[in-house]
Amino acid sequence: MGRGQFDERLEKEKRLVEHEGHGQSRGVFCLDNFINFYGLVKVCLKVSGLWARAHRNYFDIQVTQNEVCLPRLPQAFDGYRILQLSDLHADFHPDFASCVRNVLAELECDLVVVTGDFRTCTFGDHSGATQASLDILSDVSAPCYAILGNHDFLAKVPALEAAGMRFLLNESVVIERDGARVQLIGIDDPNHYQTHDLDRALAGVDTSECQILLSHSPQTYQEAAKRGFDLQLSGHTHGGQICLPGGRVVVHDGTSPRHVLSGAWREGNLQGYTSRGTGASGLPVRLNCPAEVTVHTLRAAYPYT
Ligand SMILES: [Fe+2]
Repeated sequence: MGRGQFDERLEKEKRLVEHEGHGQSRGVFCLDNFINFYGLVKVCLKVSGLWARAHRNYFDIQVTQNEVCLPRLPQAFDGYRILQLSDLHADFHPDFASCVRNVLAELECDLVVVTGDFRTCTFGDHSGATQASLDILSDVSAPCYAILGNHDFLAKVPALEAAGMRFLLNESVVIERDGARVQLIGIDDPNHYQTHDLDRALAGVDTSECQILLSHSPQTYQEAAKRGFDLQLSGHTHGGQICLPGGRVVVHDGTSPRHVLSGAWREGNLQGYTSRGTGASGLPVRLNCPAEVTVHTLRAAYPYT
């Protein structure tokens, strides 16, 4: 990921441990600005009678199909399916891993990407999240690439890579199909750690080829568009997690505009998708914002012809 970014990330991780997670979020809408925010939300959900429904929703993981036409996609990749998991926060509830595994058992894909936030807390032991993540993916045979989120420490990478997952930390890999190529580029967390480095990630990449970016937070959308990426896959926002009817986001960290907070979006020639997240954080609840596993089906045809 680059020596400078590596040292910077370790230093920030150390500070989080020393301050037990406080001070990670930024911006007007950051949750840490509110004293016992989650306690207050829990009381509101219970008093309003919505708690049981919201908790059931946490386990009701939906499969979202997203077909995306990429003008530079080689014909050989037409129909290629990328399964995206994001924001698993896999150690939050003991029944969560089996719930996701059951959803995945019904799906077929060519590639799996995990766009960060394996762990629930932003500090502390990560072994539970690592094991739960491995349980979730235990029956998946497709190649799996991942990036780290703002809830993840570098220390979890070796165990997950030993199990076959490959992390792209300011790195790229060529995906081949029938002799055709697509570039898959992953960057480190641009949100809290800000140790992403697109220059390093793009070193050696043939930019004439179709490029897919994995970025934990969608906040890199403008830079990704400027650099000519074709597709950006992100998470981080949880789609709001607890939303108003219609999916209107109430709370977010203020680092990205509303149009990239959830679902499919476009910025110039860049197409993007921000997952609502497979898991949840803060509270094991969701309201008007279903958890999702996303299957992106790539299409080579230009969408407007
Ligand atoms: Fe998350």
